[in-house]
Amino acid sequence: MAEKGKTREFKWQRKHLLGLRELTAQEITYILDTAQGFEEISTRAVKKAPPLRGKLVVNLFFEDSTRTRNSFALAANRLSADVVEFTKKDSSVSKGETLLDTARNLEAMGIDIVVIRHNAGGAPTLLSKYINACVVNAGDGFCEHPTQGLLDVFTIRKRKGSLKGLKIAIVGDISHSRVARSDMWAMTKLGAEVTFVGPPTLMPPKVEQLPVKISYSLDDVIEKVDVINMLRIQFERLGGNPFPSVREYSHYFGLTVERMKRAKPDIIVMHPGPINRGLEIESEVADGKNSVILQQVTNGVTVRMATLFLVNQAAAQHGEVIEET
Ligand code: NCD
Repeated sequence: MAEKGKTREFKWQRKHLLGLRELTAQEITYILDTAQGFEEISTRAVKKAPPLRGKLVVNLFFEDSTRTRNSFALAANRLSADVVEFTKKDSSVSKGETLLDTARNLEAMGIDIVVIRHNAGGAPTLLSKYINACVVNAGDGFCEHPTQGLLDVFTIRKRKGSLKGLKIAIVGDISHSRVARSDMWAMTKLGAEVTFVGPPTLMPPKVEQLPVKISYSLDDVIEKVDVINMLRIQFERLGGNPFPSVREYSHYFGLTVERMKRAKPDIIVMHPGPINRGLEIESEVADGKNSVILQQVTNGVTVRMATLFLVNQAAAQHGEVIEET
């Protein structure tokens, strides 16, 4: 059973969720506790609750996504919101409309929450400055993917009770991974020790300034960690050739059955998806008894329900304050 944080007195104030870097441990714990309270809704025969009834959520996705987009849509549906899907291919953005024009037009249609994924880092923050609706970041460039970070710590907390003192390895293409960054903020704020593991060519610039340990050898860390998060090689973002061959990468950094024999028996194996089976992780490990990869997907819906609920609640409070003054 996950340890609930002491957040009863706390009042959530943010109408946007842009990143985990700016959140306190208390705020993160509050979202996780809220998510824990929402879990039961997904087990009902009628998987719906009314808190966002009459609210309009727009999924504004400028980058491909299956898991995250559907997860947000499902989360919004479970809270009875209406959802409009707006992807780059079928929008006027492909005709050259700017991000802000698109958003303003959507806002003129009366939206309450924008869930945005964009290949430019900072796009959700920019948007939040120009529109009244709540903004939730669903992944911006290499910067942040806050709901993925939240669902990852939620999944770990469910299994291990707490993140305090846990040793966590995040392995692979760190430099292009917004997941690694959001995970790092959430995990370290909740008291875990994070090690980034990968070849030097896949480490981000100024990595030594981040609150993590660094290792260039998976074999050096595999025996010590309680949690291992395997990242996808983001081929679509790679400019040059960061390693000599895919085979060599798998040999040194792949999570194989052989390597798992040296891991702690209760290690948790995670992956944000989509998986390159046989590259960063062998199928037997991805589908094995230590894997929580599918639980991550389930928990993603719950954590996104909590996120949509809380930003909407904060927006309503802001409204109340303005009316009073
Ligand atoms: C991640 C992303 O888009 O950053 N995936 C996801 O949200 N499901 C990681 C990835 O694409 O490898």
